[in-house]
Amino acid sequence: MWVLKEDGDMSPLLNIDQAVARLRQGQVVAIPTETVYGLAAAITSEEALRTVFQVKKRPFFDPLIVHIASVDQAPALTVNWDELSQALAAKFWPGPLTLVVPKSSRVPDIITAGLQSVAIRCPAHPVAREIISKLGTPLAAPSANLFGKTSPTTAQHVLDEFEGRVPVVDGGPCEVGLESTVVQCDWTGEQGKIRILRPGGVRAAQLQDFIREWNRPVHLSRAESKASPGHTEHHYQPEKPLVWLELKNMEPAANREQVLKTAARRLGFEISADQAAELVLPTEVTLASRTLYSQLRQLASSPAQLIYFIPRPEQASEEWEAVMDRLRRAASLRL
Ligand code: TXA
Ligand code: MG
Repeated sequence: MWVLKEDGDMSPLLNIDQAVARLRQGQVVAIPTETVYGLAAAITSEEALRTVFQVKKRPFFDPLIVHIASVDQAPALTVNWDELSQALAAKFWPGPLTLVVPKSSRVPDIITAGLQSVAIRCPAHPVAREIISKLGTPLAAPSANLFGKTSPTTAQHVLDEFEGRVPVVDGGPCEVGLESTVVQCDWTGEQGKIRILRPGGVRAAQLQDFIREWNRPVHLSRAESKASPGHTEHHYQPEKPLVWLELKNMEPAANREQVLKTAARRLGFEISADQAAELVLPTEVTLASRTLYSQLRQLASSPAQLIYFIPRPEQASEEWEAVMDRLRRAASLRL
């Protein structure tokens, strides 16, 4: 059971030892990571794993990431911990890179949604790693939000999302603020492949630098999003509709009101000009990543009925890839 408030003194905020105790008893707990907060279950507890899907209203076809405290825990989760996986882990762990590798029998099918591969990540947040170390078992953890909605980057976001029914360890605001980069990797002994399934906290340019330093033939590519079952076209959506507006459709400035009204009408409602709020991101990409989800949540809880975003030309560059990916999927409409 995940309804936790049946007796008055159960606090939804937990310390590390309380979180470990609950995970040991087969309960779910939200934990901080450097990317976003995760809804964690021990990989040994089928009941807790099922609860994760139920609490999130997540379809069972969408596999979970397994979180480990250090690279030594990775080989037991896979039947092929090859040199490329090892080198990527050595370079980017702990940190926001998730490796998809062939799964071992230690990983229950519910985690991988029946796939023969498993996604593994060693988070950089000290609280996450301490919890996993103390528990002694890896944790499966999706982002701690309802399926398809905006990910949480503070403990308060988690409490809001599940109306206080899911206990959380408060580790402060997430530093990266966007989910990890998910890559499938494979080394044949002579050549390697890295396929980006989801852009995120580690940029493609950093993977390219890694390949250059490793100095072996590795091909880097981007996969169609269906290679990652959960990376669906509509995702990360705030509670109010977000509209992505191309600058060219916003000229002249006086036109803005009309375009916003048209956008609202296409979404099935009417607005006045003061009911639309613009999402303006910091110009520095690290800061924009860190604050994107909290800004979306803030605007969604403001009186505005519609949120709009106008991408700037410089945001088409590679370093903005993950932020733009999230905004594109979060948008209900693009004009
Ligand atoms: O930063 C993160 O990755 C956060 C924190 C909590 O670690 N977690 C996260 O989990 O974003 P989630 O469940 O929201 O997203 C996991 C993504 C999904 O798109 C899922 O489809 C993909 O990883 N994934 C998991 N296992 C996979 C597999 N075996 N093959 C392909 N994609 C996989
Ligand atoms: Mg998610």
